[in-house]
Amino acid sequence: MLIFSLDGEANNASCLLAELQNRLGKDNVQQGDVVQRHFPDGESYIKIVSEVKQQHVVVVCQLHQPNNKLIDLMFFAETAKQLGALSVHLVAPYLAYMRQDKRFNLGECITSQHASIWISERFDSLITIDRHLHRYKSLDEIYSIPSDVLHATDLMAEYIRDNIPSPLVIGPDSESEQWANAVAKLAGCDSIVLSKVRHGDHEVEISLPELEKYPDHQPVLIDDIISTGRTMIKAADNIVALGGKPPICIGVHGVFAPGAIEAMQLANIAEIITCNTIEHASNKISVIEKLAVAIIKMQKQVNKRVLEPPKFDFNIQLKDEL
Ligand code: R5P
Repeated sequence: MLIFSLDGEANNASCLLAELQNRLGKDNVQQGDVVQRHFPDGESYIKIVSEVKQQHVVVVCQLHQPNNKLIDLMFFAETAKQLGALSVHLVAPYLAYMRQDKRFNLGECITSQHASIWISERFDSLITIDRHLHRYKSLDEIYSIPSDVLHATDLMAEYIRDNIPSPLVIGPDSESEQWANAVAKLAGCDSIVLSKVRHGDHEVEISLPELEKYPDHQPVLIDDIISTGRTMIKAADNIVALGGKPPICIGVHGVFAPGAIEAMQLANIAEIITCNTIEHASNKISVIEKLAVAIIKMQKQVNKRVLEPPKFDFNIQLKDEL
């Protein structure tokens, strides 16, 4: 197996490589060497240096700021196949283009459907963590390749249990209800869920939480994605306005749009903590072991499939809500 990193954030890829080598032996997993750069006009240059013929290729790519990365991934996967790779797999701890899952306004592109087709046509499998699912119940609704969706729920619960005294888990919106409750249950504490109305990219309104039952607790806001940080900031403001302590904010994916971290640092927030699905100074919860286990499981399945390759149907019927 060859592990390539295709997003310039090499720390996680090398931790993952080390974890896989520990589990499988150094001879069975090696680092793939790729040259990836951009010409002055922005076009991509990709050169796969390692011999990929008859190899299983795993590409690790953290798909925040996804546009350039997606194009490079497509070029990489097609080249690896042309060069004779047995299979090419995508490990995208943060899977982009999952939030536009509906045509909210006439004429809008349902980007989640198209991005999933691009990836499904070029990769043999997909491993990701806590993908944003709202209207889709499963990735299989839009991805036609086998996918393994891992969860950071237990890791976040473990972190809260071990590091935060008297926690109260708070989900900032109804979408977060299921897993805010799950994290709280695993952490052995209570949870409450707020309701959120988004008025625009940077404008979010959040209902007032009923905190009076938990006067001495440490609020812990959890969400799958922190992008502009507005959801966390608004929720934190409301918690503090009601007499609660400044919350600790835990996000699975710290996407952090420009200015987000600075705004959050100025807000009523005690601490910002993320999982290392995207490399960032706030990473305190590691998903590396989970990814390694999933890759090994996937490789076993692929080895079986290589004997009798399945035929995937790539003709996903696009649904048009309007
Ligand atoms: C939305 O549906 C997600 O679960 C997050 O709540 C959202 O992406 C957070 O975005 P922001 O940080 O921009 O408020």
